[in-house]
Amino acid sequence: MDRIRIRGGNELNGEIPISGAKNAALPLMIASLLTDETLKLRNVPRLVDVAQLQRILRNHGVDTAMSGKRPGENAANGENLNLTAAEIYDTVAPYELVSRMRASFWVLGPLLARCGEAKVSLPGGCAIGTRPVDLFLMAMEKLGAELDVDNGYVISSAKKGLVGNRIVFPKVSVGATHCTLMAATLAKGETIIENAAREPEVGDLADCLVKMGAKIDGIGSSTLQIEGVDRLHGAEHTVLADRIETGTYAMAVAMTGGEVTLTGTKADFLDSFIDVMDQAGVDIVSVDNGLRVKRRGNLINPVSVETRPYPGFPTDLQAQFMALVTMTEGTSSIRETIFENRFMHVQELARLGADIKLRGDTALVHGVRELRGAEVMATDLRASVSLVIAGLVAKGDTILHRVYHLDRGFEELEQKLSNCGADIERLLD
Ligand code: UD1
Repeated sequence: MDRIRIRGGNELNGEIPISGAKNAALPLMIASLLTDETLKLRNVPRLVDVAQLQRILRNHGVDTAMSGKRPGENAANGENLNLTAAEIYDTVAPYELVSRMRASFWVLGPLLARCGEAKVSLPGGCAIGTRPVDLFLMAMEKLGAELDVDNGYVISSAKKGLVGNRIVFPKVSVGATHCTLMAATLAKGETIIENAAREPEVGDLADCLVKMGAKIDGIGSSTLQIEGVDRLHGAEHTVLADRIETGTYAMAVAMTGGEVTLTGTKADFLDSFIDVMDQAGVDIVSVDNGLRVKRRGNLINPVSVETRPYPGFPTDLQAQFMALVTMTEGTSSIRETIFENRFMHVQELARLGADIKLRGDTALVHGVRELRGAEVMATDLRASVSLVIAGLVAKGDTILHRVYHLDRGFEELEQKLSNCGADIERLLD
């Protein structure tokens, strides 16, 4: 298996282009199941998860065509992906495909809405908690689907079509909101989703669905009102910039020192993060082509955060933030409220010399004078990138194992960092 070697100590300077958001691209791709016309997605990141979802969609009968780069095109721009579900000839999403990526479970909603049936394997994905699907099942039942869970599969049908209803989520779920929103676009009558996730990626999906002919009110709020339509049509949509990649590189620059412009991204959707970084002593300012990041002094201030659904501090930046605050001269506390098992990076950061104590859902991070390179293991997507950015400041060599986690969600990570001066390379097996 490939590994990544990082020799810490170099400042980052220059530009890092930010890719399209994985967490927006995936639901947008799934939305192609809702129409027999072509959905054209722009700025799609080249990631293992995107390729895997293409396989899953092809299995249902979706034609997918990804156009490569042409001479003169900006290498940083994502790819164009055309998806056409002219005919759906298989409504089964099998275990072999779904078990690798939780988001593929979301096909449940569109398949039920368009075909009146779906058999979808219970999902896999990053091992960061139990990650149940009860909210999806509740919502599909409210829309009139009959459901059974058997042999590891959710077997569902709505022979006369889905019917709109009022759905109140007891807990904010990004995935359940995506899935229900897509299903409701083709349900008969009105659906109201209350306590919907407000993550920008939900808004991006809703904007695309509107371009496809859906009627949605309340985009960006926690109450979505959807008036079902008989059919949706093709559309063209550009995937929004990845706020998690933006935040990750901003923290890498804060750790290493130097000054980097993150291009193709915006401060929109990053308010809580930028505020926390300001408290930590890091300036993130909007410039013409993106965001410029620079640490104000030599030190990072200790800051305490709590992860929350959007607009709160994102759980997907928690591991990276933990790496950042290992560099303070004080104690920071980090409370994880979204996933109960999202601290697997703690023991790996400890291998690099970090001093972190876990108390239930809270990690107390005591700053250390320096991190030291070591062999570490990637445990999930965001945890693995926290080890990379810690490696950028650790003395000596850090070798990261199980790099495949990174490839699921970070496009050209080594190139982007080495272009700015990092000493990082992939060791191929
Ligand atoms: C999405 C993101 C992931 C991010 C997470 C939270 C994608 C592809 N993934 O994951 O990167 O970390 O949002 O921002 O967009 N829950 C239930 N029952 C359910 C569904 C969820 O209890 O039926 C719980 C989960 O276990 C978790 C919480 O709700 O504790 C939030 O999970 P959710 O928002 O659904 O995360 P994902 O959509 O899987």
